[in-house]
Amino acid sequence: MQSFRGYAKYYDMIYRKKPYAAEAMEVYRMAGKPKRILDIGAGTGRHARTWCRFAEVMCVEPSEEMVKVAYKHKNITYFVGQVTEFFECFQYTFDAAFAMFNVLGYIGYIGGVFLHLPLKLGGYFIFDIWEPGPGQKPTVVIRKFKDFIRLVVPLEDPYYRIFIIKGNRIVVDEYHQVEVFQRESIEKMASVCGFKVCSRKRLGGWSCRYKLQKVKEVL
Ligand SMILES: C[S@@+](CC[C@H](N)C(=O)[O-])C[C@H]1O[C@@H](n2cnc3c(N)ncnc32)[C@H](O)[C@@H]1O
Repeated sequence: MQSFRGYAKYYDMIYRKKPYAAEAMEVYRMAGKPKRILDIGAGTGRHARTWCRFAEVMCVEPSEEMVKVAYKHKNITYFVGQVTEFFECFQYTFDAAFAMFNVLGYIGYIGGVFLHLPLKLGGYFIFDIWEPGPGQKPTVVIRKFKDFIRLVVPLEDPYYRIFIIKGNRIVVDEYHQVEVFQRESIEKMASVCGFKVCSRKRLGGWSCRYKLQKVKEVL
């Protein structure tokens, strides 16, 4: 399924108020100020923009359209492809890995990510995911921006249909597949794949931030 194509052009406008720089600094410190960072599902590089001042950042992002509009810097490298393709192509170990803003929900197969993550022993993996409470279901969301309207329609779980409407024209119509998670499955998967759960924090809404530390090689 193709997503973040036409949507890429509107992405930074939609999330212009998200405090990316503060968030990037917070997780950078949580990860012990790493020198080599892997950013999984980097989007338009809004976190990398901060990290690149202190570290080398490898951004993995499958949407060419997102990378086209992404922030560029000499300390940032973009790998255009799925995270699994990146794992197959690169034999490079990172001090820390991040997957911000529910990227793991888009990837879906978290076991594969946990297992193959090229992280040094003692390194941190920090990610935000959606963990809805019991019985919580997604609803239709309409938001008005200066020049367009964004409409998010939940379909059968885990699918969403996203529209961008300008005037009376639909200019973007995309399907997004977004998984949600439960604490137990994250904790179990982490332990099986050689990680210790250092912390878990509710961020508001369905969002939850985990900090894992790689404590054992399992492959
Ligand atoms: C909600 S956006 C988050 C982007 C960015 N991390 C941010 O905070 O703005 C989810 C991102 O995950 C990317 N993504 C989806 N599937 C992926 C995969 N299999 N491997 C890596 N990234 C993926 C999407 O293209 C999209 O840019």
